[in-house]
Amino acid sequence: MGRKIAVISALQEELSEILQLMPDEQRVPIGGRTFWQGHLQDHDVVAVLSGIGKVAAATTTAVLLERFEPEMVIVTGVAGGLSMDASVGDIVVGTGFSQHDMDASPLFQRWEMPGYGRSRFDADPVLVQVLQEAAKDAVTWLPKLLDAQTMTELGLHRPHVHQGDIITGDRFISTAADSNALRAAFPEAWAVDMETAAVAQVCHDHGIPFGAVRVVSDRADEEAHVDFQHFLNQVARHYSARIVRKALNLL
Ligand code: ADE
Repeated sequence: MGRKIAVISALQEELSEILQLMPDEQRVPIGGRTFWQGHLQDHDVVAVLSGIGKVAAATTTAVLLERFEPEMVIVTGVAGGLSMDASVGDIVVGTGFSQHDMDASPLFQRWEMPGYGRSRFDADPVLVQVLQEAAKDAVTWLPKLLDAQTMTELGLHRPHVHQGDIITGDRFISTAADSNALRAAFPEAWAVDMETAAVAQVCHDHGIPFGAVRVVSDRADEEAHVDFQHFLNQVARHYSARIVRKALNLL
């Protein structure tokens, strides 16, 4: 039996191939976003581009949950690699999500979300498992998609799958000093992005299972903007679509 599943990405490049796989989709414009409603692998799927940043991600998710009532939400796209072992092309399956720029101290603990008594939301354990399986399939497939020269140009080697936290803030991390500081503050974090923890918070508010899978596009250092753009143009759409298709197969 098909489920009702929502897929959110920040950028067109991260979602375009998934949309192409939904030939019967209907476009529903609400609040400056377009929601694509259709079918994929026997599931009812609603896919949406949030745009970049926490506010864009949170408002998109609130509309998504209210108007389309999905059973679960998956975020996919690219992220900066934070762990020393997160290389470009690796996939991070999120286990927990925090906002690294949340700071209501001294009223609340640093990083605590006021009103929640916590600084981290958990991923749904079933989605973690499913996304892990899907990601393992995608990393073995990537070297078949790209020729050896493109792999080298993009600095890709044999990609790996990691499970760990994804941290979010309204900042593109583009210096080694900033990523070092984040790594020290969040030793559990494997990747940094600008949307995931905001989506996690809204899903938590509504009691909707949530999972996130991100491909490492850059190392959140001085080269980040160049690596990010290359990766986005050449790899992200194929990679994200492969992961999502496989995950939907398993659900
Ligand atoms: N998404 C992809 N790369 C990123 C970075 N370096 N910082 C924040 N979000 C990102």
